[in-house]
This record gives sequence, C-alpha cells and structure tokens, in this order.
Amino acid sequence: MADQYAAQNAASVAHTDSSLVPALRWEELPEGPVLVLLDQRRLPSEEVELVCTDVPALVDAIHTLAVRGAPLLGLAGAYGLALAAVRGFDVEEAAEKLACARPTAVNLAYGVRRALSAYRNALKGGADLTGAAAAALEEARALHRQDAQASARMAAHGLDLLKELLPGGGYRMLTHCNTGALVSGGTGTAFAVAGAAHRAGELRRLWVDETRPLLQGARLTAYEAARAGMAYTLLTDNAAGSLFSAGEVDAVLVGADRIAADGSVANKVGSYPLAVLARYHHVPFLVVAPTTTIDLGTPDGSAIEVEQRPGHEVTEFAVPGVPEGGSEAGTGVAVAPLGTQTYNPAFDVTPPELVTAIVTENGVLSPVTEAGLAELCDGSRSG
Ligand code: MRU
Repeated sequence: MADQYAAQNAASVAHTDSSLVPALRWEELPEGPVLVLLDQRRLPSEEVELVCTDVPALVDAIHTLAVRGAPLLGLAGAYGLALAAVRGFDVEEAAEKLACARPTAVNLAYGVRRALSAYRNALKGGADLTGAAAAALEEARALHRQDAQASARMAAHGLDLLKELLPGGGYRMLTHCNTGALVSGGTGTAFAVAGAAHRAGELRRLWVDETRPLLQGARLTAYEAARAGMAYTLLTDNAAGSLFSAGEVDAVLVGADRIAADGSVANKVGSYPLAVLARYHHVPFLVVAPTTTIDLGTPDGSAIEVEQRPGHEVTEFAVPGVPEGGSEAGTGVAVAPLGTQTYNPAFDVTPPELVTAIVTENGVLSPVTEAGLAELCDGSRSG
C-alpha cells in the first residue's frame, strides 16, 4: 500500500511554506485596539482576516468557528475580556457572554477567568480602569506565551513517547479534526507531535480524517500538513476502519476539548470510534492536550456538556464562497430531503480505559488514572 502514496508524497512536499498567518493577534489601531482572527471558515481557499472590535463580534466568530480549537478558544476568551476592558465595555457582562459562547472546550471559560481575575485583582489593588484593563491584557499575553511553550513541550514529550512505543520509527499516524498552529499560540497539540516526528524524519504518513460535518481535517489539517511538507493522505471518516484492518495505522493522535477528572476525554465527534478501533487493533490511542484542558471540576465523562450544532451542517454541503460553519440554513447544497431530522453533536467522549496515554506539557500519563491526572495538573508528576 505504501508505494501507492509515493506520488502524493511528492505533491504534498511541493508546498513547503510553513509560515501560517497567525490564528489570532492583538493589534493597536489608531481607532482603538482590535482582535484580529484568521477566519478559519474560509480556509483553505482564502486566507482572510476577521477584525473584532467588540465582544458580540467575537462571540459570533466563536459560534461560527471562525476561531476554534480548545487552546485557541482560551486565548480568544482572555483577549476578548481584555478587549472589553480596554474599550470600556461592561467587563462582567463580557465575561459571561464569552465564557458560554461554546460549552465543551474548558479552555474558553478558563481563559476568560484568568483575564477577569487579573482585572479584578488590579482594581482591588487600587488600579484605575485603565490599569486594570492593562492587567487583563497582560494576562492574555501571558496565557498566549504559556500556550506556545506548552505546545513545544507536548511535542517533545509526544515524540519521546512514540520512540518508546514504536521503536522501529517511521510512524503512520492517524489524526482527527485539527490540532495544529490554527488552534494554539504555538504549534498545537496532536499535530505538534506529528510535526516533531516529521522534523525528526520519522513521520512516514499522516492519515488525516476529513472530520464531518465541518471538515476541519480536510480544510485545516490538510492545509497545515501541506504547508509543513508532510506526507499526508486525506480519508473520509468512515474509511478509518479499513485502514486499521489493512495494518496501516501505527498510532492515533488526537487533541482534547475537555478532560474530566477521571480521564474521560471529550474531543471532536468521531474520536471515540477511533479509540474503539485502536483498541481492537492493538494500536496506541494518544491524547495530546495542555493541562489547561484538564478540568478536575468535571468528575467524569457524563458530566461534560457536549455541544449540539445546527442540523443544516449535516443536511447541506457548504458552497464555495460561503464560509463553512458560518453558513445560514439554506445557503448550502442540500444532501438530504427538506425537513430531515439530524443528530449533530460536535464532540464525543472517550472513556479513560481506551486512552493509552495523555501527553501534556508536564509529562505523559499512562495508564490514565484520576490520581495521576491530578498530579499532572499540579506539576508534581513529570515525565
Ligand atoms: O469544533 P472545533 O473545531 O472547535 O473542535 C476542535 C477539536 O475538537 C480539537 O480536536 C480540539 O479542540 C483539540 S485541539 C487542540
């Protein structure tokens, strides 16, 4: 099977422009500060930036997935709070609106909370509103730097783990959804590990699940893999089983939106079936996430709120020029009869017993246990 992909390899190596437009940046314009987002709904066909001058615009960008992915949602939340503070909007109201713009990725509320605490603490310490707003912005910037550092450390820990689990090298990794620089202040989570393997000359193939219905794999991961010059192949989500049965997958690497205290992992819908397949085929299922994605306040998987998305994402295909995720019902090409009922959860939950290891910036946890997860979070466990 490997030879069949040689030509595709050459094609993907042809685009080696690894410099991505930043997924999110703060900019001071003469008319005031703004949050500039790379509009992910329009990728890969257009690299268009979306300028948010207020919280409602940012909340809309979060709802429609112009900005998305757990760590990046944390940054969006923190910068969004700072934007409200610097522009003199109602900060407490902004915090509420931002924190619940999407329910599953715990990073969003975490980012908002961090910037809000910095703002409140500055006020308590005697700062005026300008000083408190500056404190909120500095906290958002600190989270941004920490997230970039976490990416680098997860990549290093993940590569070490792969070397240990698969001593033969030449990994064929399957990934789901999008977990690279588009979701992070750095190089991402699971995709950062694939990137480290690629740079070490050990990535034989990255299998990219298309990730129905919003195609984060096809539109975004393939885009990032092409730019990085990786050998990658796109497959429909339902082709994964045949790939496992052909013995073509050495490891599954995914990110996470929330990891509960018992180690249950909420991630893009379709991750759980991959974990089941991986277990059946004796393939490691690795979850790569910063500790900011671990939520010890959520006891187990059943307590994780899974976002339900609109039905038209399933019953219609987006058409060129209409942003994926942001389209209104009726603007795409219908692929089901009018009035069809849908089931469209954005995430699913994988139980800890199906997770071979959780890779964080603080180290690797395997097997996944509640006590081990708590130690990873407080930094008392490493390696
Ligand atoms: O709905 P999305 O595109 O925000 O979902 C993103 C994912 O599920 C990612 O896999 C997850 O956030 C982990 S990425 C670090």
